[in-house]
Amino acid sequence: MTGLTTHGLDGQVGVVTGASSGLGRATAVALAQAGANVALLARSKDDLVAVATEVESYGRQALVLPLDLAHEDQLADAVQRTVMTFGRIDVLVNAAGTDVPGSVMDLAVADWDRVLAVNLRAPFVLAKTVFPYMQQARRGTIVNISSVAGKRGWANAAAYCAAKFGLSGLTQALAAEGKAYGIRACVLYPGGMATSWGIWSATERQVTSREPPPATRALPPTEVAALIVWIAAAPPELVLNEVIVTPLDEQGWP
Ligand SMILES: NC(=O)c1ccc[n+]([C@@H]2O[C@H](COP(=O)([O-])OP(=O)(O)OC[C@H]3O[C@@H](n4cnc5c(N)ncnc54)[C@H](OP(=O)(O)O)[C@@H]3O)[C@@H](O)[C@H]2O)c1
Repeated sequence: MTGLTTHGLDGQVGVVTGASSGLGRATAVALAQAGANVALLARSKDDLVAVATEVESYGRQALVLPLDLAHEDQLADAVQRTVMTFGRIDVLVNAAGTDVPGSVMDLAVADWDRVLAVNLRAPFVLAKTVFPYMQQARRGTIVNISSVAGKRGWANAAAYCAAKFGLSGLTQALAAEGKAYGIRACVLYPGGMATSWGIWSATERQVTSREPPPATRALPPTEVAALIVWIAAAPPELVLNEVIVTPLDEQGWP
């Protein structure tokens, strides 16, 4: 029986945002297990150093790049330092995310701006900055982590939903512009994941939203990370454009 086989990521280089915890951390480690060196982006330096140690335990190299994704000027520098260190970028995973819950009436414009800056503008700026390197190499994969909140708007999550919906358009544009150069873009919409993402905890979400409580059985981030590695390592003639992955009893989708 033949099937879709992947070829691993030996010698490749990944850039992962949100690498200090949750899905980003699991993805950085999974990329290393698949053979890639990894640049680790997030604010919490100590956590990134711990992830770097884990990456190195698989015989790969890690580059710790502490930064705030809301600060646009730090992003190009991070990409350049990655290229200077590793010489290439094959995979970009925009996994970092933030939220300021609250009703539209209560949400401050500054909070809207910050959520959009971290969740949507940073993936745009990073994609824009890695694109020339991928174009030159005529290959590359960009994976943007949305949410089921990027498929359906929720009460008390206007900025978060707007940013996650925006990632769909950004990803489709990247895929359309990238395909002539062998660059693939995929948007992934997870349901509830078992991470420290506060507002998805059963208690907090119920007090901040009138939506149903989240899935009682959340997705293990390691499983979602394995899916991301599969997308990045899939044969070059194949592109997974988008994926909705949820726990079986997810309440947020469909
Ligand atoms: N957990 C869920 O149920 C769920 C469901 C659907 C989608 N998602 C999405 O999945 C992604 C990963 O979330 P998670 O569940 O793994 O949550 P998490 O454990 O809280 O991770 C969030 C990551 O984003 C980073 N981050 C936040 N603000 C940042 C900033 N300004 N600059 C740099 N890094 C920043 C955090 O690092 P620092 O704090 O160190 O900066 C952290 O590494 C997010 O995009 C989230 O929207 C999560």
